[in-house]
Amino acid sequence: MDVKIRLINLKNEALQEVNQASNTKHLEDLRIKYLGRKSQLTDLINHIKELPEDIRPQVGKEANKLKNEIEALIKEKILTLPSKEEKLPKLDITLPPFPFTIGKSHPISQVLAEIINILQNLGFHIALGPEIELSYHNFDALNIPPDHPARDMHDTFYINNETILRTHTSPVQIRVMKKQTPPIRIIVPGKVYRKDADISHSPMFHQVEGLYVDTKVTFSDLKGILTILVRQIFGKETGLRFRPSFFPFTEPSAEIDISCQVCKGKGCRVCSYTGWLEILGAGMVDPEVFKMVDYSIHQYSGFAFGLGVERVAMLKYKIDDIRLLFENDLRFLSQF
Ligand code: PHE
Repeated sequence: MDVKIRLINLKNEALQEVNQASNTKHLEDLRIKYLGRKSQLTDLINHIKELPEDIRPQVGKEANKLKNEIEALIKEKILTLPSKEEKLPKLDITLPPFPFTIGKSHPISQVLAEIINILQNLGFHIALGPEIELSYHNFDALNIPPDHPARDMHDTFYINNETILRTHTSPVQIRVMKKQTPPIRIIVPGKVYRKDADISHSPMFHQVEGLYVDTKVTFSDLKGILTILVRQIFGKETGLRFRPSFFPFTEPSAEIDISCQVCKGKGCRVCSYTGWLEILGAGMVDPEVFKMVDYSIHQYSGFAFGLGVERVAMLKYKIDDIRLLFENDLRFLSQF
């Protein structure tokens, strides 16, 4: 075949194919097909020396021209293809925005912060202790003898013989008193663990412990502090009742009830028709505990209390199932 006709055919074929290409990958394939090392055009240029001398310059010129033309054509075609951004749906910036919600703290965190704030204003400082605790700190040093029912496997998560998940924040009393001398005025917020789960018990819950030790601390100091704390949380009208009770590490001990938030003390299902709800354990530090930390029982006296944070949150917000607090259902949490 005449070389010149071959060139013309090649040109027509390339023109048509390049024009029909619809994406860059396709164009790249065509570049290889028409201009690559194994293409007809490259082959022709490589063998140009074998052509008769009279047509050699002319064909050479034409072949190079065609090469440049196809190259230019491909370049031009690329520019006409839609870019990636153009393939995305167009944004209508005049549309109103989606409503978006801002996160906030969990009701437990909110109540905890409120309790801590009140007690800090009364002069208490925060102290912390480990959740994995020696049973010595959790029990023995708090005058809880080995046969006390609180040590029962049903209540305590054991890690080994000596190590447990703390069942209350009271072991931090021991840790602090072993390290410091009075006056001591601390609060201990933190997680505690008990093998227990129903509508009012969770295997993990929060307590705030209070400890005040000085030379002349009396039960009326305890009453004063707890009355302020309770009335700031639940309102000025809230009634308080100190009921005699027992804890191995306080003597005398009391449990503190508040007037029922639901029926205002008249009696209802929530308070089992008593008008009262228990929210605190407290008492004067037992001399046995002072002996454990080498404090003089003649020089010092003190009070301690322990408050259940979930319990406060449930009473304050009238939540009747503790598990709601741990399910992390936003329909519930967003109400606080
Ligand atoms: N630690 C006790 C409990 O968890 C509460 C408490 C603390 C009682 C301090 C008296 C003094 O039940």
